Amino acid sequence: MTLVTTKNFYTHYQVEIDQYLDTWFRHNYSDSRDHLNDAMRYSLLSKSKRVRPLLVLATASLQNKDLTPFYPLAAAIECIHTYSLIHDDLPAMDDDDLRRGQPTSHIKYDEATAILAGDCLNTIAYQLISDDLAQHFDSEKIVAVIQQMSRLTGQQGLIGGQMIDIQASSKTLSLEKLRLMHSLKTGALITLSITLPSLLIGFSTHDHLLLEQFSKHVGIMFQIQDDILDYTSSADVLGKTPQKDVSQDKGTYVSILGMDGAKDALAEEIKQARSSIEKTSLDTTVLSDFVDILEKRTY
Ligand code: IPE
Ligand code: IPE
Ligand code: MG
Ligand code: MG
Ligand code: MG
Repeated sequence: MTLVTTKNFYTHYQVEIDQYLDTWFRHNYSDSRDHLNDAMRYSLLSKSKRVRPLLVLATASLQNKDLTPFYPLAAAIECIHTYSLIHDDLPAMDDDDLRRGQPTSHIKYDEATAILAGDCLNTIAYQLISDDLAQHFDSEKIVAVIQQMSRLTGQQGLIGGQMIDIQASSKTLSLEKLRLMHSLKTGALITLSITLPSLLIGFSTHDHLLLEQFSKHVGIMFQIQDDILDYTSSADVLGKTPQKDVSQDKGTYVSILGMDGAKDALAEEIKQARSSIEKTSLDTTVLSDFVDILEKRTY
C-alpha cells in the first residue's frame, strides 16, 4: 500500500479515480461490445486532469483517512463533467473536434451517439449516488446530495451557464454577466465538488460556508484560466483546439478585459480563494496545495 502524503495526494488519487470508474463500468455494463458503453468509456476514461473528483477527495481528506466512501461521489461528478464536455463539443454548441487529446465523441462516433452518451453519463451520476454512495451515508444526506446536485447542474447552474454562453458574444456580455456565466457553467460543479463532501462529513456551518466561498473563487479562477489558455496554448498541450473562443466570438475574460485584465482578475480570485480557507478551523494544506497546482496548470 502506498503511503499517501500531501505531496503525492493528487497523483495517488488520480489513479484511484481512474480505476474506480473503469471497474464500475465493467461491473455495471458487462457487455463491452455495447455501442453506448463504448462511447461513454471513450470520453470518460480518456486523459483528464480529474480536477473535480480530486477536489471531492481533498475535501473529504480534511476529516477522513479512508476516502473510499467518497469515491462514488467523485465518480458521479466526473460523469456529469464528462457529459457536459461531450455536449459542449457538439456542432450545435461549440462545434469542436478535439477533446482530451482525441477526436470528440461526435467525430469518433456520430452526433446521435454523442448526445446519448452524454445523456446516459448524466443518469449514471444519480445511479452512483443512490446505489453506491448510499451504502456509506444515511438517506437524509443522500437526498440532500441529490437535491443540490440536480439544482446546480441544471438551470440554476451548469446548464443555465451554458445557455448564457450560447446566447452571448464578446460584444453583448457585461463583466457582471460574464462572471455569472463562469460561476454557473464551470463554478457550479466545482462548488458541488467541495460542498457535497462537506455536507456528508457535517462540518460546522462556519467551516462549510468558508469552504463554499473558497469553491466559488476556485470555480471562477478555473474558467478564467481556461479562457487564457484558449489564447496562449497549443493543441498538443491543451488536448483541444486553441483560439476557439476568438473564432466563435465568445465572451471571455480575455475578450472582455484583455489579457492583462484577465490575469489581474485571475490573481484576485486566487487571493480570495486562499483567504477563505485560511479562516476555517481546519488544516487545509491539501486544498492550498491544490490551488498551487491549479495556478501552474498548462492545460
Ligand atoms: C474543461 O474542464 C471545461 C471547463 C469547464 C473549463 P477541464 O479543464 O477540467 O477538462 P479535463 O477534465 O481535464 O479534460
Ligand atoms: C465549458 O466552457 C464549460 C462546460 C460546462 C463544459 P468551454 O466551452 O470554454 O470549455 P472548453 O474550452 O470547450 O473545454
Ligand atoms: Mg462552451
Ligand atoms: Mg467548449
Ligand atoms: Mg474554453
